[in-house]
Amino acid sequence: MKTIRLKNKQIDYPILIGSNLYKDIGKICKKYLEKNRVFIVCDITIYNLYKDEIHTSFKKTKIECVFIPIGVSEKKKNINTVASLSSKIIAHSVDRKDTIIALGGGILGDIVGFTASIILRGINYIQLPTTLLSQVDSSVGGKTGVNNIYGKNLLGSFYQPKLVIIDTNVLKTLPKRELLAGYAEIIKYGIIKDTKFFQWLQKNGKKVIEGNTNARIYAIYRSCINKSQIVEADEKEHGIRALLNLGHTFGHAIESLNNYKKNIIHGEAVSIGIIIATKLSYVEGHINKITCDKIINHFVEIGLKISMPKNLKKITPKKFISEMIKDKKTVNKEITLILIKRIGEAFIQKKYSQNKLIKLFTEITT
Ligand SMILES: NC(=O)c1ccc[n+]([C@@H]2O[C@H](COP(=O)([O-])OP(=O)(O)OC[C@H]3O[C@@H](n4cnc5c(N)ncnc54)[C@H](O)[C@@H]3O)[C@@H](O)[C@H]2O)c1
Ligand SMILES: [Zn+2]
Repeated sequence: MKTIRLKNKQIDYPILIGSNLYKDIGKICKKYLEKNRVFIVCDITIYNLYKDEIHTSFKKTKIECVFIPIGVSEKKKNINTVASLSSKIIAHSVDRKDTIIALGGGILGDIVGFTASIILRGINYIQLPTTLLSQVDSSVGGKTGVNNIYGKNLLGSFYQPKLVIIDTNVLKTLPKRELLAGYAEIIKYGIIKDTKFFQWLQKNGKKVIEGNTNARIYAIYRSCINKSQIVEADEKEHGIRALLNLGHTFGHAIESLNNYKKNIIHGEAVSIGIIIATKLSYVEGHINKITCDKIINHFVEIGLKISMPKNLKKITPKKFISEMIKDKKTVNKEITLILIKRIGEAFIQKKYSQNKLIKLFTEITT
């Protein structure tokens, strides 16, 4: 098992990565609990697949577990779900010594983290991510939240977990489409800050998708190290944490224009968004054609999505950009983008006017 410690003056928690950890989950969690009881909020799919194994493990350590399965989707990632989940938890007379475990993918983890941050003004929670995407990104770093009718993740908090446990074994039941969605967030780290990791992925990326345990552990470990370093330096996103949004301003606009329908999931929208950011970096003269092609070729080789879904192809650049403006980084209607200087270095480009972006967008999409 590999351990990373996310640590700065305010934060300190471990991220454990290994295979087959669920059988010992009770023992692993025990020393982080203040009571012999946990609330396990889980995605219904995960509940059906892993409930027995997890229940047995907690039982062995004499920890009572209260399972709360919930239906999960981008459409249900909203404040109503947070309200009903909070009531289900508070009904058990919780106090500040209780702990909630988020067992599921990124949607579940974001909802549960946010709920934990507001129950009694904050109770302990542990992340047990079950998708590749949540293992390499959303379970680490304490960004929690839900969507709002005006856009994605517009309600939320920074609220760090007490512990993150990543078991690669659960990826065996994860559909390939979801694995590819997670890979888009993995390759993101290579592009924004880790040249060597990008090169490693060029050689080994397929093994990660195909199920090689060591390759998966390494890719997750390296992703979590990169994410931890960024969060340690800038927890509340005053600066470099924004680099993690590479492809996301475009991606969130795609998800929102698509009404969060399942023909395009978050990691797929991010994948298309990274390709748009790559092309923009090229037309703006920050990277050359060779670098631009190197990134696009890797996406194609792995099987990631690189172009808009059919139903959104007719959307005009103007409509797209006016959706992008709802991004959290927009100030005074000027859009901030994350662009690429070279593979292994991204930068924050502020103050893009809508008109300039419409022009650039037309250039790269025609
Ligand atoms: N908080 C952050 O820092 C952060 C970072 C990146 C993404 N996100 C958020 O993460 C969300 C996307 O998360 P996601 O891609 O994990 O999607 P998800 O939570 O919807 O999970 C994907 C699907 O896989 C199923 N599933 C999960 N684990 C499984 C397993 N082991 N076996 C079989 N099926 C399984 C789920 O039931 C679901 O249908 C988005 O809402 C995004 O905004 C947050
Ligand atoms: Zn993301």
